[in-house]
Amino acid sequence: MGNDLILGIESSCDETSAAVVENGRNVLSNVIASQIDWHRKFGGVVPEIASRKHVELMNPVIEEAMEEAGVKFADLSAVAVTYGPGLVGGLLVGIAAAKGIAYAQQIPLIAINHIEGHIYSNFIAHENLEPPLVCLTVSGGHTDLLYFSQFGEYQILGRTRDDAAGESFDKVARVLELGYPGGPIIDKLAKEGDGEAIDLPRPLINADNYDFSFSGLKTAVLNYINNQKQRGEEVNKANLAASFQQAAVDILVTKVIKAVEETKVKNVILAGGVASNQQLRAELESELYNLGVELYFPPPKLCTDNAAMIASVGYYHWKSGKRTNYDLNAEPNLHLE
Ligand code: KG4
Ligand code: ZN
Repeated sequence: MGNDLILGIESSCDETSAAVVENGRNVLSNVIASQIDWHRKFGGVVPEIASRKHVELMNPVIEEAMEEAGVKFADLSAVAVTYGPGLVGGLLVGIAAAKGIAYAQQIPLIAINHIEGHIYSNFIAHENLEPPLVCLTVSGGHTDLLYFSQFGEYQILGRTRDDAAGESFDKVARVLELGYPGGPIIDKLAKEGDGEAIDLPRPLINADNYDFSFSGLKTAVLNYINNQKQRGEEVNKANLAASFQQAAVDILVTKVIKAVEETKVKNVILAGGVASNQQLRAELESELYNLGVELYFPPPKLCTDNAAMIASVGYYHWKSGKRTNYDLNAEPNLHLE
């Protein structure tokens, strides 16, 4: 096997990242500059700030990734870049950088769907993991359940009809005035609460499909808080966090198990920021264990947005002959197809 080096570039949200990955799975460098400190005080990512920070950070981050990997631009086989989904300003910064390098080196430019990147973070972390498998992608912007038959090929079983799973964690954290991003805070606080304390709905949980709906759950949380206020009663934040998280986890676990039973796969992978959720991991793992199915998830560094996952997908697409033209544009609302 030759030594194929792919440079990956990621700038779809609030992380500026560049990575060099060898043969799709061996990470030589994965530099991630988080902008979280600039956004936190606004309670969410501010697109205008993100774009400006990406412009500032992009070139130094790429240089650092190349240096850390100990490679030169002339050693690269291709440049892979996220073109969506995400914030258009940030995406354009990464795309411009990738085009410049690809053109200067006369090597292929490969456009990558960010969500597919999250999935491949599992193949980086677990070197013997191979399809077929079921994948649950849960982040701030998407909730997709996929059947992954082989590298480069997948089928969408279901997705959210409204809010993404992570979005609902963030919104609930916001109304409880817990801070941002909400997922990790709720995850931690839920450990101190009782998940059965407050009765919340689990929309679509028993529907005969793989679709999700989280906006009704979020609204139920809001209604509960308003009712408590009207009655002049305190909201027990830990109990509410735990009850919300229990409902969200129940929904996700139920749909994954249904997909496993139908596709008869032996492996399940989690991807996206919500894949870090401790309760989701623990409950899914134990349910799957009963079915003799293995659960995989990426380590924390590969769970958040990073360019190594983009370079990994890029390798498999490059291998299969995919090439992207220089008229590549950002696609903020890109979905998995
Ligand atoms: O994949 P990601 O880093 O960014 C994109 O949305 O693409 O996901 C971020 C989302 C946020 O909504 C965050 O609150 C959520 O993932 N998240 C979590 C946890 N850690 C991050 N949600 C639940 N539990 C967590 N431990
Ligand atoms: Zn992401």
